[in-house]
Amino acid sequence: LASIEFDLSSVGVGESVTIKWRGFPVFVRHRTPEEIEEARAVPLDALKDPETDAQRVKEGHEEWLIMIANCTHLGCVPVGEAGEYDGWFCPCHGSHYDTAGRIRKGPAPKNLVVPEYQFLSDTVVQIG
Ligand code: FES
Repeated sequence: LASIEFDLSSVGVGESVTIKWRGFPVFVRHRTPEEIEEARAVPLDALKDPETDAQRVKEGHEEWLIMIANCTHLGCVPVGEAGEYDGWFCPCHGSHYDTAGRIRKGPAPKNLVVPEYQFLSDTVVQIG
């Protein structure tokens, strides 16, 4: 089904937007250097669904985090820049995600899902 192209140039450092793709809301976050550093400092054995930060972003574009915006518990849309790990917080049943969108606390079993995407240029991504 359809892929979409999105121009990242309007999303400043520390900002996020939510776009639509195949009926799903998708978070596009322009991470700060501190957020990247925080995500990279977490040991894998501290994670319920172990994935490195590098596995969740594209090399050379580590500042961009792109994820389906549905909590992996029951699908609510988490709130950004919230929760105990400076990432996202799902108010439905209290799941906390970190600055790489990884589940850190609460009932959600999995990290927020990173869809297939690729950079077409430094500022344009194709999702799907
Ligand atoms: Fe997010 Fe239940 S749907 S914690």
